[in-house]
Amino acid sequence: MSVSGPLLGKLIVTPRPLFDYRNMFLLTDEELVAGPILDCPAGASPFGAQVRARGGKAVSVDPIYGPRTAVESRVAADLAHVHQWLAAGPVGLDWSYLGSADAMLRAFEVSADFFLADYAEGGPNYVAAGLPALPFADGEFGLTLSSHLLFTYPEYVSHDQHVSFLLEMARVTSGEVRVCPVADPAGVPYPRLDEVRTELASHGVSTELRQANSAYSKGGDDMLVCRRIP
Ligand SMILES: C[S@@+](CC[C@H](N)C(=O)[O-])C[C@H]1O[C@@H](n2cnc3c(N)ncnc32)[C@H](O)[C@@H]1O
Repeated sequence: MSVSGPLLGKLIVTPRPLFDYRNMFLLTDEELVAGPILDCPAGASPFGAQVRARGGKAVSVDPIYGPRTAVESRVAADLAHVHQWLAAGPVGLDWSYLGSADAMLRAFEVSADFFLADYAEGGPNYVAAGLPALPFADGEFGLTLSSHLLFTYPEYVSHDQHVSFLLEMARVTSGEVRVCPVADPAGVPYPRLDEVRTELASHGVSTELRQANSAYSKGGDDMLVCRRIP
C-alpha cells in the first residue's frame, strides 16, 4: 500500500489519554485495577494518572523524563509540531474517531496538562528509561501497553529493535504485552510483522493479532498481543 501526504518527520512525544488507551487496547474496568500496568512508551500520556485515580497501579516509562522544565518544553514543542502536521493535511487519519483537527488538538492539550500536573521527576510513577533496557524485574507487571512507537516509526526503529523491544517488554510482564497500532500514522501496516512474530516465537513469546477499536489511522486498528510461553 502506498500513500502520499506530509510525513510526521520526527518521533514526537504525544499525550493520548485513557479514553484512547481503552480503545486501542480494549481495556476493561477490571483490567485497569487488576495489578501493576506498565505504559511504555508513555510520553506525555496521563494514562498512569488516570489509572491511579481509579484505584489502580501504573508506571509510565519514557526516555524524555527528567527535569520538569525540559519535559514541559518538549511537550509544548511537540504539540506545536502536531499542529503544523495537521494543518498540512496528513492522509489516513480516522476522522470518524478523531472528529476534527481542532477536536484532536483540544483533547491533546487537556491530556498534556493532566500529565504535567501529575508528573514528578524521580518518583515511582515516572521512570526515565528506554527500550530495550527496562529497570524492572522479570514478570513485575501484569499487563504492559505500548502505543505509537513500535510499528509506527519504521524509519526510526529498526527491524532488530522491534524484536528486542518486544522481548524486553515480555520479560517484565507476567500477562499480556499489547502493542497498538501495527501500522504507521498513515495506516500503512508494518511490512515485516510476520518476521517479527516468527523471531518472537523462536524466543518463547507467542503472539496474536486482535482487532481493536481505533488507533487514529484508518487501517491501524489491529493490536499485537505478546505473551511469554511458560
Ligand atoms: C508518539 S509517543 C507515544 C506516547 C503515548 N504512548 C501516546 O500514545 O500518546 C512515542 C514516545 O516514544 C518515546 N521513545 C522513543 N524511543 C524510545 C525507547 N527506546 N524506549 C521507550 N520509549 C521511547 C518517545 O520519547 C515518545 O515519548
